[in-house]
Amino acid sequence: MSSKDSVASMDRVVIFDTTLRDGEQSPGCSMNLGQKLRVAKALNELGVDVIEAGFAAASPGDLEAIQAVSREVPGPIVASLSRCNRGDIEASWTALRDAPRRRCHVFLATSPIHRDFKLKMAMEEIVKRAVDGVRLAREKFDDVEFSTEDAARTELPFLAEVVERTIEAGATTLNIPDTVGYALPQTYAETLSYLRQHVRGIDKVVMSVHCHNDLGLAVANSLAGVMVGARQVECTINGIGERAGNASLEEVVMALKTRQDVLGVRTGIHTEKLFPTSKLVSQVTGSYVQRNKAIVGQNAFAHEAGIHQHGMLTHRETYEIMRPEEVGFSRSSLVLGKHSGRHALKERLVSLGYKLDDAQLDRVFADFKVLADKKKEIYDADLEALVIHGQLLKGQQMWELAALSTTSGTGTLPAASIALTKAGGERFQAACGGDGPVDAVFKAIEQITGVAVRLRDYRIAAVTTGEDAQGEVSLEVEHESGVYRGRALSTDIIEGSARAFLDVVNRIALKSGPGGARSAQAMEEGTP
Ligand code: KIV
Ligand code: ZN
Repeated sequence: MSSKDSVASMDRVVIFDTTLRDGEQSPGCSMNLGQKLRVAKALNELGVDVIEAGFAAASPGDLEAIQAVSREVPGPIVASLSRCNRGDIEASWTALRDAPRRRCHVFLATSPIHRDFKLKMAMEEIVKRAVDGVRLAREKFDDVEFSTEDAARTELPFLAEVVERTIEAGATTLNIPDTVGYALPQTYAETLSYLRQHVRGIDKVVMSVHCHNDLGLAVANSLAGVMVGARQVECTINGIGERAGNASLEEVVMALKTRQDVLGVRTGIHTEKLFPTSKLVSQVTGSYVQRNKAIVGQNAFAHEAGIHQHGMLTHRETYEIMRPEEVGFSRSSLVLGKHSGRHALKERLVSLGYKLDDAQLDRVFADFKVLADKKKEIYDADLEALVIHGQLLKGQQMWELAALSTTSGTGTLPAASIALTKAGGERFQAACGGDGPVDAVFKAIEQITGVAVRLRDYRIAAVTTGEDAQGEVSLEVEHESGVYRGRALSTDIIEGSARAFLDVVNRIALKSGPGGARSAQAMEEGTP
């Protein structure tokens, strides 16, 4: 494998994380610049080899985020997606020129359905456009990846032709995506094996897999690809991504690690960071991790049945194939309280996998003190929620809650009065009635901000047990510009609801503000 700068080898698989591109593209998962940077830094600590930080030509906001990751996250290769045209490739260059290690990722669809209905291009035109795209990218970049979008539904001889020609044109990584999650492990492995047998030069590049999860097979298909020689896996934290998502990074990595006996390969991932990274992504995107999700779900290491608990006590491996500590999941939940100092907090956070600098620790400590005044005992889950969800991650927000009061009760009309401050400091007030206090709060916020939404989902979950537990409020709403999710944490569920609603309003403001929306052209041509 001659891919310059690549760490792939016979027994080493490159982990290419696309949480910030394919993951962020999924409805309701958009992140602001500060959040993207925080996720990119966490991915660096996790040890991923490549961070696909965005699609530079899609919007000025994407370009700026890639640029920030290039400048502030040393270590991994930073990649930007591009269509096969000069404008996109130049946007990727502008975004990546400061990155110590950079990659241009160009793609073009190859399947008959995409050729005929989306691109309206004949086979020869596809080959030419792909070759030209790779050549253009190679004018600026040493490291160029080419993706044959919808490869899993492409005729094999034609796929082989495109792959061979783009390798000749200078691609250093060849990615074979199952864009619509259609493949089965066996058929996907056959596609890759066919390319290995029929494409001249394939052994000189890194073969990569990129699987979507429409049939729940993204991880299985990715592993099937590795078994027949793929040495790069494209994946996302928590498996977020278009529709049913992408292959989940934590599942791929732990399968490669736990079944090394069969697969015979390793990654550079520090697996004990998987759980904290999963939590971070879940919080910044507002997208829940299901309780029984493999590796990072709350129940992934819980043993309920008596017979299982007995087995665990006599010999852990009776029912556990991985140790929870290996993925950064801590069984202990040491308690801190109002008299605990900054040092105790720091120690506890380090043992949970969070290394904060002094300024960050100061902010978490301030939030911790406020919480400790309201709540007697503070558990690990409370601390994690504070780190990930508290002031630390907020950054610049369009709207902030200044004051709130509500009335409700049997025989009275529920009402809320609320004051918000807008970025810049101006204060606005409104009072509204509603079906209940939460409804009244939402109406008052809508009145002030002028953002009208339709509530699709509203949930409250206790972060820990006990009457004084913090409640985590999560919302999903529909707005004319798309679906958004918001979350907030509070010991008071009405205040938590107001903050979660403001989280949604701020996400909408971010998307529709300058540089937030994807370009009309990118929307029209569609990104995979
Ligand atoms: O799913 C897909 O085909 C993609 C490519 C751009 C790699 O995301
Ligand atoms: Zn994809």
